[in-house]
Amino acid sequence: MATQEETFKSIVSHCKEYGFVFPSSEIYDGLAAVYDYGQNGVELKNNIKQYWWAAMTKLHENIVGIDAAIFMHPTTWKASGHVDAFNDPLIDNRDSKKRYRADVLIEDQIAKYDEKIDKEVQKARKRFGESFDEALYRQTNPRVVEHQQKRDALHERYQKAMNANDLDELKQIILDEGIVCPISGTRNWTDVRQFNLMFSTEMGSTAEGAMKIYLRPETAQGIFVNFLNVQKTGRMKVPFGIAQIGKAFRNEIVARQFVFRMREFEQMEMQFFVRPGTELEWFEHWKQFRLRWHKALGLGDEKYRFHDHDKLAHYANAATDIEFLMPFGFKEVEGIHSRTNFDLSQHAKYSGKKIEYFDPELNESYTPYVIETSIGVDRMFLSVMCSAYKEEQLEGGDSRVVLSLPPVLAPVKACVMPLVKKDGLPEKAREVMDLLRFDFNIQYDEKDSIGKRYRRQDAIGTPFCITIDHDTLNDECVTVRYRDTMKQDRVKISELHELIRSQVDMTDLLRKL
Ligand code: GAP
Repeated sequence: MATQEETFKSIVSHCKEYGFVFPSSEIYDGLAAVYDYGQNGVELKNNIKQYWWAAMTKLHENIVGIDAAIFMHPTTWKASGHVDAFNDPLIDNRDSKKRYRADVLIEDQIAKYDEKIDKEVQKARKRFGESFDEALYRQTNPRVVEHQQKRDALHERYQKAMNANDLDELKQIILDEGIVCPISGTRNWTDVRQFNLMFSTEMGSTAEGAMKIYLRPETAQGIFVNFLNVQKTGRMKVPFGIAQIGKAFRNEIVARQFVFRMREFEQMEMQFFVRPGTELEWFEHWKQFRLRWHKALGLGDEKYRFHDHDKLAHYANAATDIEFLMPFGFKEVEGIHSRTNFDLSQHAKYSGKKIEYFDPELNESYTPYVIETSIGVDRMFLSVMCSAYKEEQLEGGDSRVVLSLPPVLAPVKACVMPLVKKDGLPEKAREVMDLLRFDFNIQYDEKDSIGKRYRRQDAIGTPFCITIDHDTLNDECVTVRYRDTMKQDRVKISELHELIRSQVDMTDLLRKL
């Protein structure tokens, strides 16, 4: 059995081998934490975005979309707090010259205690079998109790230091815990410093006239600065939402785990503007709606959990993450935040413009409160890939790699294959393609044996393979082979469209929400 780490490595190489994700500018040895989506990756990613966009804008008459520019006036980022506070604490190891996030080093140390505890529990479960009482064991086993106490003390000290922005204390924790650099193995650490994650560039032609601007680190601010434009031109009534999909950029110190943490990535964000005082009800509403959106894909309900934030940003009054079980543990895929009226008030203050809403029912003006749902397209892509990737042993000693993607997200919906490259079968296959191509992404493949062609389609997650044989010319029927069961059926050409539609149509998925 492959370990989770080996499985993850296989997924990463599969993504490259089958045209899903390539390292950026690979011929020049790539660019750290920047990736390009290939011919299949872009289709899967577009299907994810289409599902999100439809769920937000089509299903909600009070949510509309925008597409704001990546470049924004630099004061935007002063107002939002990103210039002063969008920082990560970094630390360097003097021997390896490697740079780390101090908080990540400490969180990894906390995870090590958790692993030690889990190992003890697993061993005991094996030893005691059926009669094992895990809760009692955790409370009474001296080794487990000792690890747990150390873990909790470390967690508390770490939380305190982070909340107080105490960089000296973060360094002291790293020293006290004896955390070593994984490369050099030494404890020769520099002081901890704050590092701003925004990329900047210059706009304007002359050095003197140039203005320092930032590549947006989140799409949300493009929505906030357009609040009045959309509200007025769309005659929107609170509560209403503005949705946006677009690129965001962060100069991450430690970029890890493939497309999970990138320096250029894509977000799907929706800001929902509500009456002050109703925000926590709406927060709960959006939490549940967003979880339903994830679960409707059928990747496995047990793979999701909420992680409520202990530490809230000063302007937030509730925040949670939707986490997904990746091969490297439960990880944040989406954040849902109740951001009060912080952003709109800040933009009003910095721009000198009144940003308020007149509520005709209350006959008063106020600055709306905001619930934000923010999901990374790339993390969503990764969670879909991780749950779909399977290495299967087949009867007769054969094996296959199959991507059991939700058919609605699959890059290619069906592949049409003439059994042989002669006797009029390719022409008939082209006819079948022409019936389907206007509604579905269809491939044509006539190379190699049928078995090899099936494997190629399994590897990119194509739900249907359609084979045209000599009988087809007489009976107008084809052989349909299903990806997951590998079963085959004889189907009339006239019924193909409905067969595919019934599996890949997004409408059925949206109805589940
Ligand atoms: N506007 C709120 C906001 O940006 P966030 O928690 O910083 O909140 C939201 O980011 C989502 O964006 C995350 O849940 C994650 O899916 C995605 N994301 C953030 N940083 C990322 C990165 N470096 N690489 C890939 N995705 C990222």
